Amino acid sequence: MSTNFNRRSWLKSAGLLTTGVLLEKTNLSKASEFPSQTNAQEKALTFWEWEKSDLTAKPVAMKARLLANENPYGPSEMTKEAIINSINKGNRYGHAEAAELVDMIAKKEGVTKDCIMISPGSSDLLEKTAIIQFVKGGNIVSADPAYMSLIKTAESMSATWKPVPLTSTYQHDLKAMEAAIDAQTQLVYICNPNNPTGTITDGKALWDFCAKVSAKVPVFVDEAYLELMDPTIRMSMVGLVNEGKNVIVCRTFSKIYGMAGLRVGYIVAPPAIISKIDKITRSGMSMNVTAVNGAIAALKDTKFAEDCYKKNKECREYVCSELTKLGYQYMPSQTSFVLFPIQMDGKTFLGKMSERGIGVRSFEIYGQTYCRVSIGTMDEMKLFIDGFKKVMV
Ligand SMILES: Cc1ncc(COP(=O)(O)O)c(C=O)c1O
Repeated sequence: MSTNFNRRSWLKSAGLLTTGVLLEKTNLSKASEFPSQTNAQEKALTFWEWEKSDLTAKPVAMKARLLANENPYGPSEMTKEAIINSINKGNRYGHAEAAELVDMIAKKEGVTKDCIMISPGSSDLLEKTAIIQFVKGGNIVSADPAYMSLIKTAESMSATWKPVPLTSTYQHDLKAMEAAIDAQTQLVYICNPNNPTGTITDGKALWDFCAKVSAKVPVFVDEAYLELMDPTIRMSMVGLVNEGKNVIVCRTFSKIYGMAGLRVGYIVAPPAIISKIDKITRSGMSMNVTAVNGAIAALKDTKFAEDCYKKNKECREYVCSELTKLGYQYMPSQTSFVLFPIQMDGKTFLGKMSERGIGVRSFEIYGQTYCRVSIGTMDEMKLFIDGFKKVMV
């Protein structure tokens, strides 16, 4: 493999986007892979996000809030009812309810209770995992681009990030990631489906990678968007925890269950990892009894999750087909967002979209600007396409 990874490689790969729809149907692993990058290039080439994305804008101030991969349909009626009913219990700590939720999750995932830890949003456990793993420094290996939360906490604990570019079909480059592991590596972070690309890494290949690599170093698999994947290719890594592998799987109630603002997430991990994190979380003291009751109801409301999956897919397909009609290419997404390259400065683009009441995100990846649009309701997606046409066409 050449070490001359450069901006051209990624831009060239953007050419593959022309066949974005096709890629979903063809054998992804046959496509050529990105060469790995040199250390000197890492800092200059890694992706970054425009800092001015207006995450704090109130939803009411926007006609279409499509910037944080939220579920526009949630929370479900059953969740809302459970939350309202549990407000009266707000004077008591929610240990019993938290234990019930842990029980339900353990049954759902087919693991023992000591493999589950819940948290106020999965972000909390991304951070806590980074804290326990990087207390003595070391390095973290992940894809680039990746979801940066755990990586940023690791860096703040004085860890070094070893980014490994995605392959030209936007899968994790598992071979290169394995090669990047050294004696100082404390964790491998995988996000599947990946954010911000929305693309997936083949489940079987990832399973084999995790099984092998976890003998050397723990592998953290962030499955925040798993339930939004096509069920025929959906494959969780939870089974590896059951096999006793050093694998940590992270999930959230923020996406398919529409509870982003209510804050519930969890990890499935070996009991040794759970008890290490438990020492710094004080046994779930941060959980909110209303959110916990909401999550219990959400797990029972399977119809709501199925409906959300269908609506998300329908709206995503609408956006992709409109982008194609406009001559735009996009990454083949299995999530509640779509990433595609645009020919405009990111800040200007965000400003023009937000003037029309549309909030999206902009990313700079290897010198190319991308728009990431979250999937909202059909009405919101029509507003997005309409606004986008006015801004770009
Ligand atoms: C890949 C990924 N992991 C984790 C999170 C954190 O989600 P939360 O803290 O709401 O569970 C997000 C949020 O967008 C995400 O995209």
